[in-house]
Amino acid sequence: MNIIRIKSTASTNLFLKERLKEHALAEGTVVWADAQTAGRGQSGTSWEAEPGKNITCSLLLYPSFLPPGRHFLLSETIALGIKDLVDDFIEGASIKWPNDIYYEDRKLAGILIENELSGGTFSQSVAGIGLNVNQEVFSSCAPNPVSLKQVTCRSFDREQLMDSLLRKISCRYGQLKAGEYERISQAYQASLYRKDGFHCYEDLNGRFHARLQGVGEDGTLHLATAQGEDRRYAFKEVSFINPSS
Ligand code: BTN
Repeated sequence: MNIIRIKSTASTNLFLKERLKEHALAEGTVVWADAQTAGRGQSGTSWEAEPGKNITCSLLLYPSFLPPGRHFLLSETIALGIKDLVDDFIEGASIKWPNDIYYEDRKLAGILIENELSGGTFSQSVAGIGLNVNQEVFSSCAPNPVSLKQVTCRSFDREQLMDSLLRKISCRYGQLKAGEYERISQAYQASLYRKDGFHCYEDLNGRFHARLQGVGEDGTLHLATAQGEDRRYAFKEVSFINPSS
């Protein structure tokens, strides 16, 4: 993989997309910045990462081989690659739908995938990854963040970790390219945060208890309420509520 290592940029996703406007780049190109001045999260949020302590990178992929309606597999693939890495160091990691990496009830990593569509296929994807590594204090508690260091009480060599991360993602992406869709979606479903039991959720109509049934091919979350009603949600239509909140 071709890694472009930079000291600082507004956002690695933006940096990569700007370079792509200037010239073509090979699949697998990675931009890794030690600091982001305007790191971006899902739905217009910002991504907090103390300079020099974490992994904030963007990976360029050309998943035009994905059949229509199966684009969520890319999200599953990247999330699994990160979780595979985290599993080497800690127990208890999961994937919170749609693609956050959690340790217990706290967020270890987030993914921001920005796609270019051409004729119904994803011609180009920039997969931005923020993994909390050696950071010990977070100024915002918004996504309930936690780092690998906070969980394990040890520091990590970020270069080695990055090397392993790219290997893990590359391995999962190889499965995706080989058409092993069942393998990926089964691993994803098996890794889901709150996959067992009833938990509290909130939609436009208020709070309710439900059991997670799975995630559909289109990426919708399927829940079954305690009253036996099936509900399906697109991203941001439902929130996971913690007992303490
Ligand atoms: C989320 O909200 O969970 C997504 C967070 C994604 C953060 C990463 S850090 C590297 C890349 N560049 C960005 O500006 N965002 C992503």
